[in-house]
Amino acid sequence: MANTRGPFMDVVKTIDAAREALSKARGGSRKVGLVPTMGALHPGHLSLIKRAREECKVTVVSVFVNPAQFGVDEDLDTYPRDTAKDAELCKAEGANILFMPEPAEMYPSGYATYVLQERYTDPFEGELRTGHFHGVCTICCKLFNIVRPDVAYFGQKDYQQTVVVRRMAADLNIPVEIRVSPIVRESDGLAMSSRNSYLSPTEREQATVLYRALTAAKELFEEGERSGRALFAAMRAVFDKTPQARLDYAAVANPETLRELARVESKAVLLVACRIGRTHLIDNMLLTVP
Ligand code: PAJ
Repeated sequence: MANTRGPFMDVVKTIDAAREALSKARGGSRKVGLVPTMGALHPGHLSLIKRAREECKVTVVSVFVNPAQFGVDEDLDTYPRDTAKDAELCKAEGANILFMPEPAEMYPSGYATYVLQERYTDPFEGELRTGHFHGVCTICCKLFNIVRPDVAYFGQKDYQQTVVVRRMAADLNIPVEIRVSPIVRESDGLAMSSRNSYLSPTEREQATVLYRALTAAKELFEEGERSGRALFAAMRAVFDKTPQARLDYAAVANPETLRELARVESKAVLLVACRIGRTHLIDNMLLTVP
C-alpha cells in the first residue's frame, strides 16, 4: 500500500523532541490556552484571560470551586460564587470556552484517584492547609487532561501553587507550558483575591500589612541587605505593629525549591501569610540581586 503520509518520518528519542515533532505536525503555533480559576473573577483573573487571548488561538477558562483543595474547617461553603457574572466577564474578555462543571462531573461517585506531590507541597501553605495541594494537583491534572492546553496561565499571587503545578506537569510529562503572570493589586497594594470580600472595612485596612511587610523587606534588600534572617525580621516587625493580623509565616526562600535561604545570593521569593479575623491571606514578592 502506498504511504499516504509522504517520504519523511521523524524519529525522536527525547520527550522534548517528541513534543516538538507533534506540535509541528499539528501546525505549529500555540493554540489552546487554559486559565483555571475558582470563579468570583476579579481583575487578577482577567489579566490571565487577557494574556491567554493575546498568546493563544483558543482561550478556555475553567470556573470550578474544587472541594478537594479545601480542608474540612475551611470556607468551601461560603466561598464566593457568582457564575452569571463570571460568564459575563469571560465573554467580555473574549474567552472562547467557559468550562463550569458541577462537583459530580469532576468527582463522580466511585472517584478514587488523586495526585500526590512530595517536597514542594510540604512547607508554607502545605503545612498550614493539610491536603490543599493534593487537591490542587488533582484538579489541575484533570483539567489538563480534559482541555489538553498547550499553555496554562497561573498568577504569581499563589506563588507556591505555581511551583507545585509546574513540577507536577513536568513530573507527569503533561505537555503543557505553565506561564505565570504578575500579581494584580489594589491601589494600596493589597493583592486582589476572591477572599478579600470576606473582610470588614477595618479588616480591609489591616490587610495592607502583607504588602507593607513585603515592601519593607524589599527596600532593605535594595539597600544591600542579603541576610535571610534580617529580611525576615523586617517583615515580622511590620506584622508586630498590626497585632490584629496573625502571622502564619514569613519566609525568604529559593524561588525554585522553596527552601529557606540564610543568604540571598541571586534570587529569592519573600512569602507571607496571615489571618485577619477568619480570613486567610497570602502574598509574595520576588527579589533579584542586581
Ligand atoms: P483562584 O484562586 O480562583 O485563582 C485562579 C488563578 O488566578 C490562579 O492562578 C491565581 O494565582 C490567579 N490570581 C488570583 N489572584 C490574582 C492576582 N491578584 N493577580 C494575579 N493573578 C491572580 O488558584 C486557584 O483559583 C485554584 O487553586 C486553581 C488553580 C483554579 C485550582 O483549583
